[in-house]
Amino acid sequence: MTKKKKLKGFIMKKITVIGAGNVGATCANVIAHKDLAREVVLVDIKEGVAEGKALDIWQTSSINNFSTRVTGVTNDYLKTKGSGVIVITSGIPRKPGMSRDDLIKTNASIVKEVTEKSIRYSPDAIIIIVSNPLDVMTYAAYKAANKISKKVFGMAGILDTGRYRAFLANALDVSPKDIHAMLMGGHGDSMVPLRRYTSVAGIPITELLNDEELDAIDERTKKGGGELVNLMGTSAWYAPGAAAAQMVEAIVDDQKRIYPVCAYLNGEYGLKDIYMGVPVILGKEGVEEVIELKLNTREKEMVKESAKSIKEVIGVLDKMKLF
Ligand code: LAC
Repeated sequence: MTKKKKLKGFIMKKITVIGAGNVGATCANVIAHKDLAREVVLVDIKEGVAEGKALDIWQTSSINNFSTRVTGVTNDYLKTKGSGVIVITSGIPRKPGMSRDDLIKTNASIVKEVTEKSIRYSPDAIIIIVSNPLDVMTYAAYKAANKISKKVFGMAGILDTGRYRAFLANALDVSPKDIHAMLMGGHGDSMVPLRRYTSVAGIPITELLNDEELDAIDERTKKGGGELVNLMGTSAWYAPGAAAAQMVEAIVDDQKRIYPVCAYLNGEYGLKDIYMGVPVILGKEGVEEVIELKLNTREKEMVKESAKSIKEVIGVLDKMKLF
């Protein structure tokens, strides 16, 4: 066409995904499929990888019917200028036998560096962290970004409830779409699936499955990431990538969705100066509200334990003296 016609009237001009590994590339792919912005920019440090994956995704546009431009760059943050949302997936993934916390030494400096580089060109962007250990990497990005906390948060709860809902759907042989679930705490083995806040088409889950069945599903959910690391030799990407893209969608479309998100706590749930999974309202301002559930004694205890293990890893981060 000689005359340049305006394409779709996207609300968001640009979304950046840092890290073109499995999770980052999947996230960019889902963002493009959902047509969430005029352009999605994929950034990686390995020469050609982001360019290649972006080109591959873009070549599905006519097949899958989307208009979002997909661009890939090697370490060129200028191309990310003016992004409304930045998703950070950088860092090394787990190998069998490793816990997410084992990654901190390598990933903390990476997350710090990419956060600083990306906000230089997009000072108003909302930042979503996906790198592990998730809760502490989100805390590191918050320190590096020097932004208000509602604009910096992490993805884990949608992934963890995604797993929880998938396992519940298997056990009940119903559609996962009809399962509403809530889960709190860190993105680790101490996460807290909340069966009192979980239902199937409005029916409390406790009426459909007994304690023993629910305990087994809780356990599998908590170890859900590890199960996949053991199967594949590296960590998962389809569900983590899609979960991060779902958060982007809630922000871009100002949906005010209620999701478990790794958010900054300043007194909520009796916790201060920590990032941890809690239910929030997610919209164009980022974390617009942290929802405080009325937890019972047992649930409070489990959340406290989970917060304690996050604080321990924050202690490791502090000792690294990056900030
Ligand atoms: C997982 C990784 C992404 O849970 O933390 O699969």
